[in-house]
Amino acid sequence: MDKDRIEAVLKETRSFEPPEAFRLTARVKSEEEYEAEYRRSIEDPEGYWAEIAGELEWFEPWQKVLEWNPPHAKWFVGGRTNVSYNALDRHLTTWRRNKAAIVWEGEPGDTRTLTYHELHREVSRFANVLRRLGVKKGDRVTLYMPMIPEAAIAMLAAARIGAVHSVVFGGFSASALAERIKDAGSEVLITADGGWRRGQIVPLKEAADEAVRETGIVKHVVVVRRTGQDVPMEPGRDHWYHELVEGVEDEAAPEPMDSEDPLFILYTSGSTGKPKGVLHTTGGYMTYTFHTARTVFDLGDDDTYWCTADVGWITGHSYIVYGPLLNGATVVMYEGAPNHPEPDRFWEIVDKHGVTVLYTAPTAIRAFMKWGEQWPMKHRLDSLRLLGTVGEPINPEAWLWYYRVIGKECCPIVDTWWQTETGGIMITTLPGAHRMKPGFAGKPFFGVAPEIVDGEGNPITEPDQGGYLVITKPWPSMLRTVWGDPERFVHQYWSQYPGKYFTGDGARRDADGYYLILGRVDDVINISGHRLGTMEVESALVSHPAVAEAAVVARPDPIKGEAIVAFVTPVGDAEPSEALAEELKAHVVKVIGAIARPEEIRFAAALPKTRSGKIMRRLLRQIAAGQEEISGDISTLEDRSVVEQLKKGK
Ligand code: PRX
Repeated sequence: MDKDRIEAVLKETRSFEPPEAFRLTARVKSEEEYEAEYRRSIEDPEGYWAEIAGELEWFEPWQKVLEWNPPHAKWFVGGRTNVSYNALDRHLTTWRRNKAAIVWEGEPGDTRTLTYHELHREVSRFANVLRRLGVKKGDRVTLYMPMIPEAAIAMLAAARIGAVHSVVFGGFSASALAERIKDAGSEVLITADGGWRRGQIVPLKEAADEAVRETGIVKHVVVVRRTGQDVPMEPGRDHWYHELVEGVEDEAAPEPMDSEDPLFILYTSGSTGKPKGVLHTTGGYMTYTFHTARTVFDLGDDDTYWCTADVGWITGHSYIVYGPLLNGATVVMYEGAPNHPEPDRFWEIVDKHGVTVLYTAPTAIRAFMKWGEQWPMKHRLDSLRLLGTVGEPINPEAWLWYYRVIGKECCPIVDTWWQTETGGIMITTLPGAHRMKPGFAGKPFFGVAPEIVDGEGNPITEPDQGGYLVITKPWPSMLRTVWGDPERFVHQYWSQYPGKYFTGDGARRDADGYYLILGRVDDVINISGHRLGTMEVESALVSHPAVAEAAVVARPDPIKGEAIVAFVTPVGDAEPSEALAEELKAHVVKVIGAIARPEEIRFAAALPKTRSGKIMRRLLRQIAAGQEEISGDISTLEDRSVVEQLKKGK
């Protein structure tokens, strides 16, 4: 938890009304309108969500809106539908048939636009390909892709035939990919010959090959030709995407899915060394992402909406692919880095495609601040009407910069709090309805019932008190389980405060009912908006032969939000050195991926432990942050000299 940020938020007393021009045409136009709808959604959740779900198409109606046996929820019980059908076919009978669905731009500057009709054809073709490869309803298909249209096409094609997709972020290493393929039991992997990032090719196929070898279960690898570089293709196992789709029928009947049939698995980090496969199902996820996307981003048919996330994260699933396409929106998708070839690439894209709604992360905003105002100032940016942020807490300074320099003080900002597990946005202001307070996420979305509780689970009702953020009622897009580990689902999220979903975040609420997210209270850290478990990094470190013991903590970082500091005890004969530190950093990158690279490694003969043998992380966090005076009780510390050593120990 970054104390400086929280202090800055509390000191920042300015607040901002939604611009009148925005309010006039917004979907939700006033605080009163929000309050009335929120009340209805909480008093009659079943009626409320049935109305929303009824705007989508169902092959068979549901018999019951909600079946709630805590912690197990079933939404739209007995209903049958298909998410790909709702995101594509539903628009084909309207004028949106020839509307742009995806406007894609590659990092080298190549572009491709797919209308809804074209996207439907591509998805149907690839759905037929998957069926020919033997993929059936319920089978898992792993994607390891760059940000190209085929990533969205493959997700929608899997959804169309009832296969469960598991997208693994292209920045993860071969061994991280292998672990996720094995856990999901995927026999099919979809990847590319590479992707472009800062002018370099990301060697996805190489990593995919290594992962496939390690798993021994993958039967088919489908490879999209993106960069054109030579990659080894194993006959019988590897297939070029463009060859497979050649001449294939462009109609594919959508599989009628039960509302509770799995839609996708997405791995995320928790407080153990092993990532969790968060499972989302069909009807509830579809309904919730449909409704949040249009309400929070105020989507209309004139919008060109751009979410800068990667499809490898939940933000990409819910707010690049499913939510916007369910609404028939035009979605911009960009392959590469924000500073390639120059730090104004994003602003060039905004002007070029006329982006009206931009959704990005605080870490990107802080990087833009560092690069300087002159870059956005070179562009008009006058198409923008709404800005959003997600993934980590935003500091008021970054919020105000975004508001002034990018939004020209006439675009509302939505600071959306949510998680992989929640499937969709849970706490935010609504852009036409709410006053904005920099640093505060805002109010609960419709149907969401947050609560702040103390350590015993008692609700904290008085304002401005910190506590644990829980959700007390089921919502349609909540995770249903952890893939292959139902006990972990119950234990992780529902055991601290029975009947309530535990978010892992701390929060406080002010007298106006606005939530301020304080950050994670568990061993999960947030590097540039990417979630990582400290234990994952620790297990990566101890898998190196020179490491006896490791403890990982985060320290506040001005750009990334948090940076990783690792405290390492080398094995007896390994000499701590700069070279060893570099080797260990590279080792973590190999095991997990570049996002997990420790910023700093400190060596010590021992780690500070309590007499019962627990590593004192609080103390390590203070040391990592460079605090001279160590506060709090260290009377249980086994060996006090360890602290002095670690303070110096670089
Ligand atoms: O700590 C919160 C932080 O990101 C965590 C969820 O990470 P992940 O599952 O990867 O999903 C990120 C994108 C939805 C949360 O537990 N977080 C996310 N959004 C915000 C945030 N913290 C503060 N403000 C936010 N807007």
